[in-house]
Amino acid sequence: MVSAVAARKTVSVLFCDLADSTALGERMDPEQLREVMGSWYEAMRSAVERHGGTVEKFVGDAVMAVFGLPRAHEDDALRAVRAALEMQAAVARLNGSLGDEVPGLRIRVGINTGEVVTGDETTTLVTGDAVNTAKRLEQGALGGQILIGAVTEQLVRHAARLEPVAAIEAKGKAAPVEAWHVLEAIAGAESFARRSDIPLVGRTSELAVLRDELAACADGRTCRLVTVIGAAGVGKTRLVSELVSALRAQVTVVGGRCLPYGDGITFWPLTELIRRLGGDEAVAEAMNDDADAALVVERLGVLGGRGTAPPEELFWAVRRLFEALARERPLLVILEDVHWAEPTLLDLVEHVSRWSRGSPIMLLCVARPELLEERPQWEGALVRLEPLSAGEATQLLDTLDIGGILSATLRARVAEVAQGNPLYTEQLFAMLAEEARAAAELVELPPTIQALLAARLDRLDPFERGVLERAAVIGKEFWPGAVAALGDGDEPLGTTLLSLVRREFVEPAVSSIPGEDGFRFRHALIRDATYAGIPKRTRADLHERFAAWLELHSRRDELRGYHLEQAYHYRDEFGSLDDHTRSLGAQAGELLTAAGRHALARDDVPAAVNLLERGVALLPRTSESRGFVLLDLAIALMRSGAFATAQGALEEALALARTGADRRLELRTLIEREFFRIFTNAPETTSEEITRVAEEAIPALEALGDDGGVARAWHLLSEPPVDACRWGERAAALERALEHARRAGDAREAAFVAADLMQAIQLGPTPVDAAIERAHLFLPEMQGNRLLTASILCSLAVLLAMRGQFPEARAEWARARMHWDELGMAHRRAVRSIDAASIELLAGDAATAELELRTGYDMLAEIGETHVRPTLAAYLAAVLAEEGSVADAEAFADFAQSNTWEDDIVTQAMWRIARARLLALGEPDTAERLAREAIALAAPTDFLELQAAALLALARVLRETESPQAGDVAAEAQAVYERKGNIVGAGWAAALAGASISAQE
Ligand SMILES: Nc1ncnc2c1ncn2[C@@H]1O[C@H](COP(=O)(O)OP(=O)(O)OP(=O)(O)O)[C@@H](O)[C@H]1O
Ligand SMILES: [Mg+2]
Repeated sequence: MVSAVAARKTVSVLFCDLADSTALGERMDPEQLREVMGSWYEAMRSAVERHGGTVEKFVGDAVMAVFGLPRAHEDDALRAVRAALEMQAAVARLNGSLGDEVPGLRIRVGINTGEVVTGDETTTLVTGDAVNTAKRLEQGALGGQILIGAVTEQLVRHAARLEPVAAIEAKGKAAPVEAWHVLEAIAGAESFARRSDIPLVGRTSELAVLRDELAACADGRTCRLVTVIGAAGVGKTRLVSELVSALRAQVTVVGGRCLPYGDGITFWPLTELIRRLGGDEAVAEAMNDDADAALVVERLGVLGGRGTAPPEELFWAVRRLFEALARERPLLVILEDVHWAEPTLLDLVEHVSRWSRGSPIMLLCVARPELLEERPQWEGALVRLEPLSAGEATQLLDTLDIGGILSATLRARVAEVAQGNPLYTEQLFAMLAEEARAAAELVELPPTIQALLAARLDRLDPFERGVLERAAVIGKEFWPGAVAALGDGDEPLGTTLLSLVRREFVEPAVSSIPGEDGFRFRHALIRDATYAGIPKRTRADLHERFAAWLELHSRRDELRGYHLEQAYHYRDEFGSLDDHTRSLGAQAGELLTAAGRHALARDDVPAAVNLLERGVALLPRTSESRGFVLLDLAIALMRSGAFATAQGALEEALALARTGADRRLELRTLIEREFFRIFTNAPETTSEEITRVAEEAIPALEALGDDGGVARAWHLLSEPPVDACRWGERAAALERALEHARRAGDAREAAFVAADLMQAIQLGPTPVDAAIERAHLFLPEMQGNRLLTASILCSLAVLLAMRGQFPEARAEWARARMHWDELGMAHRRAVRSIDAASIELLAGDAATAELELRTGYDMLAEIGETHVRPTLAAYLAAVLAEEGSVADAEAFADFAQSNTWEDDIVTQAMWRIARARLLALGEPDTAERLAREAIALAAPTDFLELQAAALLALARVLRETESPQAGDVAAEAQAVYERKGNIVGAGWAAALAGASISAQE
């Protein structure tokens, strides 16, 4: 099903044409020209094919070739560059053979790497912007030049000498095309740049295993075959090179590397091994006085291209050479990249290991797991190399990112993507560091990793690929039942999955859908790369079909919404915005908004914002639910602090309500708009306006039977009394809000209301005992919301302290504080340090009260808070004045006085109380005036603690001046404390009253 249809692939495209071909035509006989051109085409084709490319077409005197089709290789870009260099060499040879009368041919080459769409059965053409860019590069090249584009440059820069040239202005392209001129390829370079400068991380046990193997060879004078197996980039070569540098003094090391492609590569590793050893002479010397020396040299000569010999003869000669080399010291033979070895070479290795006797030889092969796919019976010991552990991966990243370029989030992303693969880690780091995107995000994978993944995927057969693609559409987790439902039902799903498991693409996993088996991709990168290869039309179709499957098998709206959303977007991208596409979008919108509302109800604000935003984008303009969804979105946005976006949603909801004459929507939006204005301190909010909106909404929404709306309206109506410190009034409104929220079944809103209500009860005239009872009733209703729980606990703590139960009070406060700390809500804790200080003052520990307030104050100062800080400063000044720290107290009183505003009653009263205390001795008149002002400020409120504190302040001033009124004023304070049930406060006041009276007597 899959192989014949179109696919998306990243390939390297090469264009080559003859420079000055018109001039050539003018100067040559047509017949001769034809012949020359024929040889030229042939030379070009053969260069392309020798490097594993395909000639797509010849047009006039241009050749277009593609590297990466039908199968991708990790080094396609490098293959293209090598092919281009070979083309140049071939042209030079051709020129040499043409004679002087023919003007010399010169070619221009352009190479570019990028995503293309490959043809299906009807067209084989490769199309995509990457092709056009390659063509532009070719046109921009001078005769004899090879120009490559930016992605190609990234892929080959470690393996070729390059020179940047001026960017090429290209017709029809927004930006000029960056280009590099290829000077030469570096012989023997690997497919990817690797680093050897980073200290080895981990791998101690693997190294120990290899040493033991070698020791066993040496001790038993036997030949052992050991293969290090591991995924690309996991660190096989590195491991072996560490082994070699540790053992070089004790063993003889020889080796060679298998090549991924090329002519006559079968014995290349041995040819390389002998060349590095020193050629024939070295072989002869090693064989020394062995009777077979001459024959061995002759047989091995075949590797250097001299003569021929049957394979068995060669095998024998290689074995004899190794034995000779192992005569004095153990011999370590390293064969790299054995997954690319030809079967004959593998046979040779097994032959040596089986037949060699009496010599300490370790044949150390290094291979990717593909080796075992090709050769399941591969002999000898296996050392499997797994990815680095999380700790080791962090250590590697630490060493790479010595300069600390990457942000913590980006480092976490790199770790997540690389999953312990050192090569991936290096490449991700290099890309991010180089592109100075260090502060940004990891959006795209480095092309090197993409190439590796694509090559791995292209090794799958069409069935396997098809299954994997359908699984990729389903997601990182998938279900065979769903994979089957997305297919044509004609493939053996079970065995295919098994083979994908064996080849480590996927693995069984715990299923999140009851009754369905679960699987997952071993690596998210594999899923992403597979998905990237699916044409968008197919993606749209598969997403839609999977959504249909989900409807029957799972209740997860969010997931189904996501798949319909994807189907909609891909169809839309193709301009097929027909009725069907629209209906997909509408369904997706409904599902996502439903999921968004659930998220909001469980207070998962980020998820709610995400889902509702996506949902709104998909809901048709005419959808009935749109207005209320916008309203929920606005609420979610406000809660997440995104006020600017919230405002837009509110405006749109209001406009919809008005055009649709939807009174309920209008009223509810108006209520939320007032909340919005309160949160943002908008100048247009006044108590009158808030009250008007709420009072208008309450009866209207009641008539409409909208309890949720009525609850919000009462909640709104509870706001104006806050500034006026009329806590009883606020509590009354919140009681109504609570009642309606409960009736509406909105437990979340009820919990929020209850938390606000509890604070109003704490501060207002409700007696302590009743208030404590309420706190205990509210606590179990907090829906597991720790922030609200902390708020209730904090109120409870203060109330307990008023009753003199200090250990209990402190314990509850500590619990509240633990919640804030765990939630990272330092701000909350700072704001409520006033409560902590109240508890400590009641307990008679002014020093701790001071510490609590200072901590809160410093926290707020650190984040530049200006709203609550003056209030904390005023309380702090009062405590410091009490303790006799005059200078500090004055400084904080100054701060409070000059940073607060007219109608902030609490702060205005508290700094006066503090100053009255400071001036009681020196300037009793001013002190008395200030204390009386504080009393006047507190009088219209029902904030009993504030009233009592102001009265006490006055009583103290009067006592210093030995005024006869002191006792009365203290008694008044006592009465206020008693009204609240603040036993401790009442005790202070009583003591002061008693003292004043006895002083009078
Ligand atoms: N344990 C390690 N500590 C530090 N760096 C490592 C470690 N393992 C590998 N590397 C680095 O990661 C990169 C990839 O490693 P290496 O070339 O050994 O991988 P490989 O398994 O041989 O891959 P391939 O299959 O492509 O040959 C190299 O730059 C290497 O230096
Ligand atoms: Mg390697």
